[in-house]
Amino acid sequence: MTLPVDSTDAPLDTAAIKADFPLLNRQVNDHQIVYLDSAATSQKPRLVIDTLDRYYEEINANVHRGAYHIAELATSATEDARARIQRFIGAPSASEVIFTKNATEAINLIAYSWGRANLNEGDAILITALEHHANIVPWQQLASERGVEIRWLPLTDDGRLDLTDLDQMLDGVSLFAFSAASNVLGTLTPVRQLADAAHEAGALCLVDASQALPHLPTDVTAWDCDFMAFTGHKMCGPTGIGVLWGRAELLDAMPPFLGGGEMILNVTREGFIPNELPWKFEAGTPPIAEIIGLGAAVSYLEAIGMETVRAHEIALTDYALRTLNERHGDDLVIHGPTDTDDRGGVLSICYRDIHPHDLSQVLDQRGICVRAGHHCAKPLMKLLGVGATARASVYIYNDESDVDLLSDALAEAGEFFSHQPA
Ligand code: ALA
Repeated sequence: MTLPVDSTDAPLDTAAIKADFPLLNRQVNDHQIVYLDSAATSQKPRLVIDTLDRYYEEINANVHRGAYHIAELATSATEDARARIQRFIGAPSASEVIFTKNATEAINLIAYSWGRANLNEGDAILITALEHHANIVPWQQLASERGVEIRWLPLTDDGRLDLTDLDQMLDGVSLFAFSAASNVLGTLTPVRQLADAAHEAGALCLVDASQALPHLPTDVTAWDCDFMAFTGHKMCGPTGIGVLWGRAELLDAMPPFLGGGEMILNVTREGFIPNELPWKFEAGTPPIAEIIGLGAAVSYLEAIGMETVRAHEIALTDYALRTLNERHGDDLVIHGPTDTDDRGGVLSICYRDIHPHDLSQVLDQRGICVRAGHHCAKPLMKLLGVGATARASVYIYNDESDVDLLSDALAEAGEFFSHQPA
């Protein structure tokens, strides 16, 4: 298996990239699959699939325990993956990279460990109006247990964060938790500016990078954030593996989240001494294959180059916004920012008065995969005044022909439903 060639300034060769993803060869409903749901989960390149196979076929053993050859190989592959992820996110140390099940668990870890150690009645947390439930519910759980206040940063009419009153809203806040990219609107938030504002107000900040990290260069040092969460399965990696990154001094001061094996230095009848970072927060046998698979996903993306990934998605999103709006006019609403200055390739669509679930079923008949529903962001959907949207989201293996097929299928759906009895 070869890695894609780093094309730096050259456009992405999507035909070559597509060939790396076995699933994209299949047919669905007698059509070549058109996968436009990477915001839900990305497809996996052969490199990642082969890495998982090789782990199970050649070095399957538990890590940090055995003193035999394959256990040492499994341990070093796990820690190599951690170091690769550290470099990929610009973290100062691999010991700050904590493996979790997904981004949701990473945010819950902060809410349970840091939140319950530091927040009480009278304290406040700021989140934003475009958050996924994963960055809402853990804070609501904490609020109901501790009487912590939750504040919501509003949006502008075009789906960007409204920063007009940011400083007032941060006054007295202990933590500002926000997404780097919206899974509904595609909005990219000004992470460094938000982190600076949080610090100016004496707050920490947590960045949910689940929808950003697969799509653009990410550097926690340049962002100057305090915690960052992301998931592996949206960035060509396996499911069941996510990452929490945090500043070492903050993680060191936090109590462990889950208790069990691996997270201890010693246990007696009287109590336990927690392990060092990162293992202090990794109770139990970790998802070894998935960690190594995520390391392979990082290698795959690095070989393409994240600047190239971002440039490709800007061009493709520009094309989609322009051609879909030109062709479908008032029949189509695409929520979120209308340009790609600070927007990723997530297109939440309402088409005529066709219910998004009906729309997605018609698209499925053409082999086109989009997600329909509330996208785990119900407070945002309420703000948009819709119960659901059909969401098309692009990635490295999509090209203009996928957008054209979506556009044709939208027109066909409009035609089909115009003949249905009211
Ligand atoms: N959070 C994922 C999405 O937006 C599952 O679809």
